[in-house]
Amino acid sequence: MTVDLTGDSPPLDPSLLPRTAVIAIDGPAGSGKSTTARALADIFGLLYIDSGAMYRALTQAALSKGIDPGDEDALAAILVPANLVLKPSKGEVSVFWNGKDVSLAIRTPEVDATVSRVSSHAAVRANMVERQKVMGRLGGVVMEGRDIGTVVFPLATAKIFLSASLDARIERRFRQYQQRGLDVSREELRQDLAERDRQDSERQTSPLTISPDSIVIDSSELSLEQQNQMCARACLVNPTLDLELDTDLETAIREIPWHYRLAYSFFNASARFFGLRQVGNEGGALPRGCILAVNHVSNWDPPLIGSTFHRYPVHALAKAELFKFWPLGPIFRWIDSIPIQRSGFDAEAFREAAARLADGANLLIFPEGTRRAIGHPGPVRNGLGILVQATGAPTLPLFIRGSYGRQPGGSPKSPLEVHFGPVIRWHGVQALLRDHDKKEVSLRIGNLCEAAFRELQARSFAAYPETEYEKELGARQLKKFARRQEQVFRN
Ligand code: DC
Repeated sequence: MTVDLTGDSPPLDPSLLPRTAVIAIDGPAGSGKSTTARALADIFGLLYIDSGAMYRALTQAALSKGIDPGDEDALAAILVPANLVLKPSKGEVSVFWNGKDVSLAIRTPEVDATVSRVSSHAAVRANMVERQKVMGRLGGVVMEGRDIGTVVFPLATAKIFLSASLDARIERRFRQYQQRGLDVSREELRQDLAERDRQDSERQTSPLTISPDSIVIDSSELSLEQQNQMCARACLVNPTLDLELDTDLETAIREIPWHYRLAYSFFNASARFFGLRQVGNEGGALPRGCILAVNHVSNWDPPLIGSTFHRYPVHALAKAELFKFWPLGPIFRWIDSIPIQRSGFDAEAFREAAARLADGANLLIFPEGTRRAIGHPGPVRNGLGILVQATGAPTLPLFIRGSYGRQPGGSPKSPLEVHFGPVIRWHGVQALLRDHDKKEVSLRIGNLCEAAFRELQARSFAAYPETEYEKELGARQLKKFARRQEQVFRN
């Protein structure tokens, strides 16, 4: 895939990348993957995972036990029960093998010379790939290696293949060794790198190949800064799902029951009192059976969306707790809301939602599953992907801004807006399901929805910059979120 990542591109906006993004970087030894992967983790706030370090840790353990690097069974026997942990700390990643810090021991010329052989075995790779998939199951990671875009995360948000000439790579490795005080000649490095290239690309199981949907960047002539910037831009290109955006919408005006009209009039008058603006809804048309996927910041979001659609009945998925209270419960049922249990997977609610969509109703969902930090939408949970896979329903992403902490008549702490995205038709999804795991497809669908939220947010900020109030509130909530993410990673 060829994309213009240079020239007079506008400044990079890191907030556009979904929090659930999975960035895959592959390439040969010495192409600068680690440096760039670290930089991307820093730019986008992702977790950096060095998959090569995992193969190195196994190699180091095998060398220290005198295990033959060609003995697949013996290698698998120490790998399968091993406790292999990558622990991020201050921009570096420490590697622990059965509790022992091996971060330095895995970077020796002996390990360099043996690791390609160790990593060529199918049993070793199967186990490593499983571990790597688990690390990326919630997204929010940048992983580098040889088979990340092809095998580990075939549905990655962005795939980059970093290449560089053999000479450029020798020079980089030579300097790295010098800095560490290790004495290796350029000629030795040439032999080692050429041999590793050969082994990595000729091995039987998942050899180093360029995935057709990856963006190839040759870094031989690039400064580090250029390389990082180009790769960061590549992360925002988002090429891997065949999306068709709807521009020609059928107008699906239906008979609107009187109670909807009543609810709509009430909510619309209130929303106008609070100064609601709708952006990007010029046509006002919506396909039948459309999912309205909305970011969630406040309890006022559902009526706000209700006030926005007067030509279509909108059924909503709402948390089951709300149905317990009088008069909320009867009112919710009256306006066709569907209760959903938020702990675990509520199959009944999903079945009902799918049936309503099939019947042509529009369905409001908050795909983040709960309220999220202001200014930091996402991550989007699996539910949206499950519904899309079950129904194929087109999806309209909507972005709400300013519904939290607002007072009528007070000075606005932020504008109150609902931004309309383009309707997404998920034509590529059925084809993906033939080859990929449902969960991976769901993550990818969620990813695209989150990307839409972020794009709409960026448009809103471009017109009315984020206020101090929004920033402060968002930062506080985000810290809470980061702690949660770290815990998940540790488990
Ligand atoms: O990126 P590195 O040099 O630290 O990787 C060490 C070796 O591990 C490399 O020669 C090939 C192997 N490797 C692999 O086979 N698959 C990966 N995903 C990562 C590394």
